[in-house]
Amino acid sequence: MSEKKQEFSIQDYLNKNKEYFEHLLFELLRFPSVSAVPEHHQDCCRTAEWLERYFQKMGLSTKLIETDAHPLIYAETPVLEGAPTVMIYGHYDVQPTDPISEWETEPFLPTVRDGYVYARGASDDKGPLLSHILAVEYWMKSSQKLNLNWKFFIEGDEECGNGGTQNFVSQNSDLLACDYIVLSDSPQFAPGQPAITCGLRGNVYYQLDLTGANQDLHSGMFGGAITNPCNALTKILSKIQDENGQITVPEFYDDVQRITPERREQLEMLPFEEDEFYASVGVKEGFGETGFSVLERRWLRPSFDIHGLTGGYQGEGGKTVLPARASAKFSFRLVPDQDPQKITRSLNAFLQENCPPGIQMKLTSFGEGAGGLFIDTSSTCMQAAVRALEFGFGRSPFFICEGGSIPIISTFAQSLTPNIIMIGLSQSSDHAHGPNEHFSLTDFHRGIKTSMMLWRELASLS
Ligand code: BES
Ligand code: MN
Ligand code: MN
Repeated sequence: MSEKKQEFSIQDYLNKNKEYFEHLLFELLRFPSVSAVPEHHQDCCRTAEWLERYFQKMGLSTKLIETDAHPLIYAETPVLEGAPTVMIYGHYDVQPTDPISEWETEPFLPTVRDGYVYARGASDDKGPLLSHILAVEYWMKSSQKLNLNWKFFIEGDEECGNGGTQNFVSQNSDLLACDYIVLSDSPQFAPGQPAITCGLRGNVYYQLDLTGANQDLHSGMFGGAITNPCNALTKILSKIQDENGQITVPEFYDDVQRITPERREQLEMLPFEEDEFYASVGVKEGFGETGFSVLERRWLRPSFDIHGLTGGYQGEGGKTVLPARASAKFSFRLVPDQDPQKITRSLNAFLQENCPPGIQMKLTSFGEGAGGLFIDTSSTCMQAAVRALEFGFGRSPFFICEGGSIPIISTFAQSLTPNIIMIGLSQSSDHAHGPNEHFSLTDFHRGIKTSMMLWRELASLS
């Protein structure tokens, strides 16, 4: 078939199946596959089974792999000897729906408003993941066979990071062997402006528990004499970062890869207005390390955020209590070449040193953490992705970095291949992780179109 004819056939298939694609997306969005909440374990398993059945229906052979947490799905197309192999990664688990009262419609009842489907997981990551699945299905059905093998590797613990996916990947590099890895779990640069992500930050996540007296006390009788864990917590946490946005934990910056002049220049070329960025989230100004631009602070420098604080009286009115306990959840975003374990050791020592008298402290880290990474964009597969995005979006993508983390990607780079193509299909304004998460149906269809072309472009590289 000529290239033009093929492109026509792709468009025709997209037009004919538009409603079917959306119907399928809504079906997937109805599963409350919240990995962090134990009550949703069965829902996660059911989501994995749904995906497995779909792969089987497409003609792939599949494996549902049990882990310490939620099942992994592996699927592969019938082997074409000598053809290159691409592995598609995604995650079917989603974030908790908290705060539920701020949702305008039920998080697991997909609802379309103004061309967007509203549901938890729509943008992160079920919509983008399904785009790739549907694009592979097209080529499986097509009479024209591409010189390409496909593998899918989909996890259910990306959002909580404790299922041992990293171990599985390092121990099964034969099963997962591939020439390219493709995923869409990062956003476009701006609505309609696609991006290829070539850098991600890593992450290391903690809970800090402080205990004081053996029970809650009257703050009039005991205040001034007994250490208050809430006071202690705010004091300790405020020591982690100074007023210039610098993290004060000793050795924290030791291994940070400095920003090269090339990378700085690349960032400066992107059309990005700091004021507009602030306005987009309803603030007039922001805070971060002095001496760095907003994009540098978000993509190329580490950061520190407290995610939740618990302690003392939170009910209505006042209660003069001196609480017995307080705790916080917080994390660092890491950049290449920071080592999460080393950071944890330094942090623990720093906190012990700064722990006020009369307080017992416990620091717990969740998961193994992950380092940051950069992807080399000079490989030919990046140009294949550029052409695919031009076809799908009608615009050339920008090469960008992102500040979020996909912990498994560093393991992929170490044990499978450095050819990792991260195609942004969602938008940063989709409210991923927040209430009223949504995904543009236009982006969904553009994603399928892009992916259909990506397979043809990758197949023609060999
Ligand atoms: N899809 C995101 C990662 C992401 C976000 C990449 C924004 C690029 C830009 C992923 O699902 C996610 O949320 N990851 C977590 C990982 C954490 C739980 C270790 C994150 O970044 O907070
Ligand atoms: Mn994601
Ligand atoms: Mn996420």
